[in-house]
Amino acid sequence: MNVFRTDLFKDKVAFVSGGTSGINLEIAKHYARLGAKVAVMSRSQEKVDKAIAEIQAEGGVAVGYAADVRDFDAVLNAVEATVDSLGKLDIVISGAAGNFMCPAEALSPNGFKTVVDIDLNGTFNILRASYDYANAGCSMISISAPQSTGAYWGQAHVSAAKAGIDMLTRSLAAEWGPKNIRVNAIVPGPIEGTEGMERLSPTPEMVAMVKNSVALRCYGSKQNIADMATFLASEAASYVTGAVMYCDGGQVLAGGGVTHAYAEQQAKAQ
Ligand code: HXC
Ligand code: NAP
Repeated sequence: MNVFRTDLFKDKVAFVSGGTSGINLEIAKHYARLGAKVAVMSRSQEKVDKAIAEIQAEGGVAVGYAADVRDFDAVLNAVEATVDSLGKLDIVISGAAGNFMCPAEALSPNGFKTVVDIDLNGTFNILRASYDYANAGCSMISISAPQSTGAYWGQAHVSAAKAGIDMLTRSLAAEWGPKNIRVNAIVPGPIEGTEGMERLSPTPEMVAMVKNSVALRCYGSKQNIADMATFLASEAASYVTGAVMYCDGGQVLAGGGVTHAYAEQQAKAQ
């Protein structure tokens, strides 16, 4: 159900990294339904084409580019192409991420580096490339994760990267505020029907444990995150910057996802 004015983002242009599947695609679709012209970016041209087709099938305006967030020049080209084709840049989502479960003692240096490169360095690349083209009033939103505050078994690489995103959010908000560029982050809790939860909670027992760790005792929906991203990109959030906002059903209240029982289940699922 849409609770927002349907022309909320008329004449706005949004760029969504990782916008070809899961949570980020839902954000792109929601923005398009509210009138924004959207650009999606991820590595796979096939996924880019499919996402564009899905948004257009709903009547939205969409373009897309295949690029890796680890390649600054490729990111810059995608941002420039977006501004060339759609005219400007009002909203930026940095949502591309990589994740796999692996206990730290089994993680190779390259495995650790890969996730930090995609999640943290990739977020810097997206926001830095966008900065030169961002309109005054631009809203930049990064997608963080509960791992940025809680310690989760097999997630040291992700925790390091996402905690970095939270501080990058605050730092850029402070530096870019005078240009009226707002920089915020969303921390989704466990979200139904996503690649992320497929990877982290592959068994029914683990799903039950995760739900039990959430105050509201359920998974969230992709729409829940799209709604938060809509608020943050809208005029309603014009005095909100540097905020790391939880949309997690209260999962953070329990301090994170590590329990011995859960870690045992994760180890068995490897
Ligand atoms: C241990 C692994 C591994 C695994 C890869 N590596 N998978 N180590 N366990 N399961 C190691 C490799 O051995 C290699 O190190 C290094 O990581 C790089 O691997 P590549 O396969 O070359 O990397 P790449 O092709 O760049 O792919 C990146 C990826 C991949 C992260 C590994 O899974 C991916 O593309 N993921 C994108 C989709 C995704 O992850 N979606 C979920 C996001 S959700 P060596 O030393 O061998 O060279 C999310 C959820 C958050 O973030 C929270 C939910 C609550
Ligand atoms: P997803 O469907 O796997 O989405 C990841 C997206 O990022 C895909 O579009 C993927 O497309 C793209 N991507 C991955 N690596 C990339 C790279 N190097 N360069 C460019 N694009 C890249 O995952 P999701 O579960 O919806 O998660 C989306 C975001 O929410 C992530 O930031 C994740 O950390 C966060 N999050 C998710 C959950 C959850 O419950 N799922 C909870 C908390 C936080 P390509 O493969 O084409 O590159």
